[in-house]
Amino acid sequence: MPPFDEYQQRIIKYPAKLSFDFVPEKLVHRDKEMQRLFSMFRQTVEGGMAQRAFLTGNVGTGKSAMSKRFCMDFKDWSHEKGKGMEFVIVNCRSRNTPASVLLKIIDHFDKGFPDRGFSTTEMLEILRKHIDKKKSHLIVVLDEINVLIKRSGTDLLYALTRFDDESLGGDQKLSLILISQKPVYEFLDPATLSTFKRTNTIQFENYGKDQLWDILRDRVELALYPGSVEDETLELIADIASEWGDARFGIELLENSGMIASEEDLDMIAPDHVRSAKAMTHSVITESNLAPLSDHMMLALLGISGAIKKKVYITTSEAEKAYALACEEYEEKPRAHTRYWEYLKELDGYGLLTLKISGKGHVGKTTLISLPDIPSTVLAEKVREMLGSRKLG
Ligand SMILES: Nc1ncnc2c1ncn2[C@@H]1O[C@H](COP(=O)(O)OP(=O)(O)OP(=O)(O)O)[C@@H](O)[C@H]1O
Ligand SMILES: [Mg+2]
Repeated sequence: MPPFDEYQQRIIKYPAKLSFDFVPEKLVHRDKEMQRLFSMFRQTVEGGMAQRAFLTGNVGTGKSAMSKRFCMDFKDWSHEKGKGMEFVIVNCRSRNTPASVLLKIIDHFDKGFPDRGFSTTEMLEILRKHIDKKKSHLIVVLDEINVLIKRSGTDLLYALTRFDDESLGGDQKLSLILISQKPVYEFLDPATLSTFKRTNTIQFENYGKDQLWDILRDRVELALYPGSVEDETLELIADIASEWGDARFGIELLENSGMIASEEDLDMIAPDHVRSAKAMTHSVITESNLAPLSDHMMLALLGISGAIKKKVYITTSEAEKAYALACEEYEEKPRAHTRYWEYLKELDGYGLLTLKISGKGHVGKTTLISLPDIPSTVLAEKVREMLGSRKLG
């Protein structure tokens, strides 16, 4: 029996709050989108009108999270106004046929509904009865709608947009929120598209580094033990995730870094844990990536990987000193300063390090070096191994 009870988790206090389906109380930097959605949907309560919204944006920009937060809060708000409001969220990646989508929606009203034996037309009628009985409006969220359309066409979507056509003057009953990464016009044929004329699009832009930092800071407070991650380390995570503007990736990095640090029996995440976490997702340190480097570029990299171990960034002069030490170790004469600069620029070009002009917190303008993709210990090991086989020094 392995000593499971001795394996401590001293960093992540509430793992569930880092999971992909956790929806925080407040979505930072999405006020504008939230407000927009609300101003579109308030007419369902105030005017008895159905509404349709289309949310698009790249991976991890908060589309699913915001639609869920919105529905929960909007339901409460509607009830305060004395109006019945229900919502159902369907992920069309797992439910990509009209029947399975409708089953999920009906299941919200009738848990025991049989999963076969009814046509889609019959199911739509059954749904109508449920909504009438509840005296409620229903918001259907079709997340990853592109998968449903690709697999099964637009029939269901069309039927749902026509749901209220028969409601002859009474309150409209069914609103839609459609979500996909690509805009709807890229996968709808012109005929169907014309039924979507009334659909308002909300575009979710990629998160920038500072926005990701705020999102991560909030999540740290919710899920981690106090003091387990420094601001600077969090900045490294935000920096890496900002390449894609993807909050999910940032949260995943945070979680994996926490697990790695914990496995080392530490109670704090260090920059190198973040690099290891990144390397778990996709690493640039392969032999074929390092093979084209000259001996001195390898020594430059070795120096940096030693000097940066406990830091997020180092300056180029720190790096150059470390390079001189690495040369000494391998009994090589260091190249001149200007040559060293060329190595740095080339290494930057290969994506093995990142050069950037220093921002806040540093006096004057210096160039800083970071290794966003690479855990420095793994890098150093690999470089040594390859330098050894080249028989240097
Ligand atoms: N503004 C935000 N504040 C706090 N957490 C956020 C925010 N935006 C996204 N997140 C979190 O980031 C993760 C990804 O968000 P979400 O699943 O909503 O992305 P998405 O746009 O639906 O991506 P995909 O297109 O891949 O489905 C979730 O864990 C979510 O809670
Ligand atoms: Mg999503």
